[in-house]
Amino acid sequence: MSRIPQGFIDELIARADIVEIVGLRVQLKKAGREYKACCPFHDEKTPSFWVSPDKQFYHCFGCAAHGTALGFLMAYDKLSFPEAIEELAERLGLEVPHEAGPTPARRADDDLYKFMGRVVSFYSETLARDARARQYLAARGLEAATLTQFALGYARDSWNDVLRRFGANEAERQQLTDLGLIIEREGGQIRDGERHYDRFRDRIMFPIRDARGRAIAFGGRIIDQGEPKYLNSPETTLFHKGRELYGLYEARQSRVVLKRLLVVEGYMDVVRLHQAGIPYAVATLGTATTPEHLKRIFRLVNEVVFAFDGDRAGRAAAWRALQNTLPEAREGREVRFLFLPDGQDPDSLVGSEGREGFEKRLAAAVPLSEYLVREVSADIDLSHADGRARFAEAARPLVAKLAPGVYRELVLERVAQTIKLSAVRLQELWNQAGTRAASAPLPTRSAAPRARISSGRGSLVRQAIVRLLQFPASAARISETERAGLDRLQEPGIELLRALIDDLKRTPAQIPAQVIERWADKPERESLEKLLLKEEVITSALAAGDELRAALLKLSELANTQRLEALQLKSRTATLDDSELQEFQRLTTKHPAAKLSR
Ligand code: CTP
Ligand code: MN
Repeated sequence: MSRIPQGFIDELIARADIVEIVGLRVQLKKAGREYKACCPFHDEKTPSFWVSPDKQFYHCFGCAAHGTALGFLMAYDKLSFPEAIEELAERLGLEVPHEAGPTPARRADDDLYKFMGRVVSFYSETLARDARARQYLAARGLEAATLTQFALGYARDSWNDVLRRFGANEAERQQLTDLGLIIEREGGQIRDGERHYDRFRDRIMFPIRDARGRAIAFGGRIIDQGEPKYLNSPETTLFHKGRELYGLYEARQSRVVLKRLLVVEGYMDVVRLHQAGIPYAVATLGTATTPEHLKRIFRLVNEVVFAFDGDRAGRAAAWRALQNTLPEAREGREVRFLFLPDGQDPDSLVGSEGREGFEKRLAAAVPLSEYLVREVSADIDLSHADGRARFAEAARPLVAKLAPGVYRELVLERVAQTIKLSAVRLQELWNQAGTRAASAPLPTRSAAPRARISSGRGSLVRQAIVRLLQFPASAARISETERAGLDRLQEPGIELLRALIDDLKRTPAQIPAQVIERWADKPERESLEKLLLKEEVITSALAAGDELRAALLKLSELANTQRLEALQLKSRTATLDDSELQEFQRLTTKHPAAKLSR
């Protein structure tokens, strides 16, 4: 496996915000300079989980869970280290470099992305030249700037526009086929000298972009009438339908801070909503909302509204979305459902009501728990005991899908209320009914044993390390002489101090979490983390630097004393050579009391 360069990990830690990362998953409360919450890693009623924006570090005083933003993603989202890196990188719109250089597969993908980019431009240019296509989009209310923003294009009513433009040789035709842009004729038939034909013909082209804005597929809408109305690219190495959300890249490009996402059904809905000033609209690509979609959504925001048509198909789609959302629902996340009037879609509504009207509807969307109760009780008469029992039975598997925690308790209460029971009583009934209604205890993280870094609390070495760790930039103020003064010192933890200084002088760091991640694979990591968590009263970077240098000065004096003692000891049993004698003299001018035994 190719390694991820340390410099990149450094940059990720520097640019990511742990408060934001944790805040999307756990409800944080500000407390002084830090944030606190009930620990997501063990069961507790009073908050002992702290997140420090200065250190870019989290720590639970209850179960000792702790780490950087990367560590949090690994523990909470259960990601591997490379996955956590990918996750942070995607959030920041960065590409993860690999030390071994791109693999052949990656290089082939790079070529495909470039190819897609050229095809996007080709379709856009075609649109610019085609009056009928432009007229169609104008009639649908799209402005020129919107066409550019979404890189919309047009595929002419031709069997070989793309084939001729981009498929000059066999290798290129293979790439076009891999990208789903051309199709091989059945049985290898040849027509007009061509074995392939264009997939998209007489369609408005909507490029589907990945998180970094690279086109990975197309959706194509037929102009006017025709079947099918929408045609999508097939699954390719670049495009996995159940994962992508149309408009997400554009949503993240918009200058507003994303607080919520609105999930709609169609391409046109997304484009029109963005144009109307609702840049947080995205669409699934002709599929139901998958758990993968939801994971992506909740990595970015903690509020999502699903909009569905009011008809039967819309209600069925909403129910599927609810089922897929339950495992991801939890405290701090808000999920709501918006049902549109029959025959309307977001495109038509925002056209007639504008942004305000549409946002008013959004504000009135139904919370998930409400929708669940409403839907489950729809055909049940709750005024009779057996109706209530049926309701309880129908709700049980749904509640069981929720992760254990406060949110599940609240939904449980809401369900119980509906049939006039207490939550405790309902849970008892469910438990008696056989299958345990999933109230497994939360997994707890055991505190790992940690190495001690130094004898004696507050030793000089420890003080120096704590200051370096909390203000890594202060390493720049350490002079060569100050550093050299530590060379011969023998003290617990001194190797780590020396290594820290050398590393930080070679590659400066600004944030404690960067230092922690540099030591991620080393045994000293635990000790460093522990020291970082010690609340030291260090008021400023300047003070830290001064204190650090004062500690180093004392340490080099200590080194001298140690050396002096060693020479004295040696002189008792052996004769010192010339250089040792000179050294002794040099050292005694600083420590006049020292004597050699002669
Ligand atoms: N869709 C699809 N294939 C189809 C029909 C629809 O993939 N044959 C998907 C498309 O993503 C489309 C969405 O479902 O955008 C909604 O379809 P529909 O409601 O039929 O179309 P609208 O979005 O309303 O399109 P328009 O307004 O252009 O008629
Ligand atoms: Mn429509």
